[in-house]
Amino acid sequence: MHALPRLIVATRNAHKTAEIRAMLGGRFEVLNSNDFPETPEVEETGSTFLENARLKALAVSRVVDGWVLSDDSGLEVDALGGAPGVWSSSFGGVEGDHARNNARLLQEMAGKSERGARFRCTMVLARQGQEVAHFSGTVEGRLIDALQGTAGFGYDPLFIPEGHSATFAELGDDVKNSLSHRSRALALVINHLENLE
Ligand code: IMP
Repeated sequence: MHALPRLIVATRNAHKTAEIRAMLGGRFEVLNSNDFPETPEVEETGSTFLENARLKALAVSRVVDGWVLSDDSGLEVDALGGAPGVWSSSFGGVEGDHARNNARLLQEMAGKSERGARFRCTMVLARQGQEVAHFSGTVEGRLIDALQGTAGFGYDPLFIPEGHSATFAELGDDVKNSLSHRSRALALVINHLENLE
C-alpha cells in the first residue's frame, strides 16, 4: 500500500483544515501548520485575498516538504461596500473571535434592507518556496438578522447560501462542503493536482 501524498494547509485554523480534509476524501494526508513547530507565524499584510494567501503558502512551503496549500477567505457584504473582506477574521476587534465578529456584523447590518453577501476563498498551492498555481471560489447568499445554527464556524450562523432557506450553520458540514467558496476553490486545486500526476 502506498503512503498518501502529504498536503500541508498553511493555517492554524482547525475548522478550515477539517473542511479541506473532509473534501479531499482520503486522497491526501492533510496536515496543518500546527503539525510543524518550525512554521513561522505569518502576518497577513496583503490588501487582497490572493496577496495574503501567497504570503502564507510561500512562508510555510519554504520550511516544510510536500504540497502546501493556503486559504485566505472572508465575507464580502454588498451593503458595507465589500467589507469586512480581508479583515473578516478581526472585524469585531479581536483576531479570530467569531462571536465578536458576528456581533459587529449584526450591528452594522441593523435596519439595512440590502442583504446580499458572498464568501470568497483564494487558495495558493506552493512547493519549496515557489507558487505553483492559485484558485478562487465564491458562494453568493444573504445575511439574516439573528444567529441561526451551530455547525461550521465564523459567519456561518448569519449566512444563507443562494437556493437555500437555512444558514450554513443549520445546513451542516456535508451541505456546506458541497457548495461553499472553499469547496469550489478546492475542486480546482484537486483538478490541477490530478493533471500533474
Ligand atoms: P483568514 O484566516 O485570514 O483567511 O480569515 C478567514 C475569516 O473569514 C474567518 O475567521 C471567518 O471570519 C471568515 N470566514 C472564512 N471562511 C468562512 C466560512 O466558511 N464560514 C464562515 N466564516 C468564514
